[in-house]
Amino acid sequence: MSESDAMALLETQVPLLLLYRGKVRDIYDVGDNRLLMVASDRVSAFDVILTQPIPRKGEVLTQLTAWWLDSLRDVLDHHLLSCDPDEIVEQVPSLRESRDAWARRSMLVHRTEPVMVECVIRGYVSGSAWKEYRTSGTLAGERLPEGLVESDKLSAPIFSPATKAQTGHDENIPFSRVVELQGEEEANRLRELSLAVYEHGATIAKEHGIILADTKFEFGHHSDGRLLLIDEVLTPDSSRFWPADLYEPGRGQTSLDKQPVRDLLDGMTEWDKSAPPPDLPEQVVRETTERYMEIFRRLTGTELDDFRPPNFG
Ligand SMILES: Nc1ncnc2c1ncn2[C@@H]1O[C@H](COP(=O)(O)OP(=O)(O)O)[C@@H](O)[C@H]1O
Ligand SMILES: [Mg+2]
Repeated sequence: MSESDAMALLETQVPLLLLYRGKVRDIYDVGDNRLLMVASDRVSAFDVILTQPIPRKGEVLTQLTAWWLDSLRDVLDHHLLSCDPDEIVEQVPSLRESRDAWARRSMLVHRTEPVMVECVIRGYVSGSAWKEYRTSGTLAGERLPEGLVESDKLSAPIFSPATKAQTGHDENIPFSRVVELQGEEEANRLRELSLAVYEHGATIAKEHGIILADTKFEFGHHSDGRLLLIDEVLTPDSSRFWPADLYEPGRGQTSLDKQPVRDLLDGMTEWDKSAPPPDLPEQVVRETTERYMEIFRRLTGTELDDFRPPNFG
């Protein structure tokens, strides 16, 4: 069995101190101000984690983040030290025996103090932004032109921050609230860096026939004082990717990720969107794996199985 054929994982097991289980990632302490972020195959919908894992999802999220961060090396500082299993074992020898449990789905990263603001950039009016606009004509508290329809392109991408809720839904906040929380200088920095990474991502995605409608970034403070881009970057879990050839304003768009899961769950009027979630039929699981692998292939131009982790040394 190759490393890529490893089983789908709902919960990772690595012989290190577990610090946190997120919706998708299990975060382990590696010492020396470093973390091992292991992406499971958990999938969440409506903030509920589903019972069935999506094979290869964690691997796609990790490898895609590494691919983007490699392309961003001249744009800003980030947390990724390595996602090459050989190099990770070299740096953390205690991980040698458990390699099958974490290889291909893990990133060795600088540990940071996360900024408690989700840095969302929107190039198009969709999701909660469409809801806010329809209700009040604004986005992140700022007035938008009248007459926009759902999924319309904005004249320029907008920083549309949200609180980083420990539990439950994130809440959109105006820029002035980010200034209150982080100070003016850092608020401006978060906005500028986020816009720069969005522009970078949107340009590359467009070359591959994909619209980057919106995306969410996280930043953290390293103990050496640097502000680093952390977490996953420009993945289908943190972004809305739309096939450009199917784009049509005035309605919701098909997105290139968990759409099969959402379509199924949307159709289940008897489910009240709280735990326990309904089971996913095998075919939906299979189609969702396909979606994740397809977005990886389309963006990077490489099959997931042929992709070798970049060197961040
Ligand atoms: N370099 C880092 N230092 C500290 N925390 C990080 C770093 N990178 C990511 N994180 C945190 O790890 C978690 C990632 O796991 P995830 O499953 O995505 O969690 P969540 O359910 O909170 O989104 C996030 O809470 C994120 O803020
Ligand atoms: Mg997350």
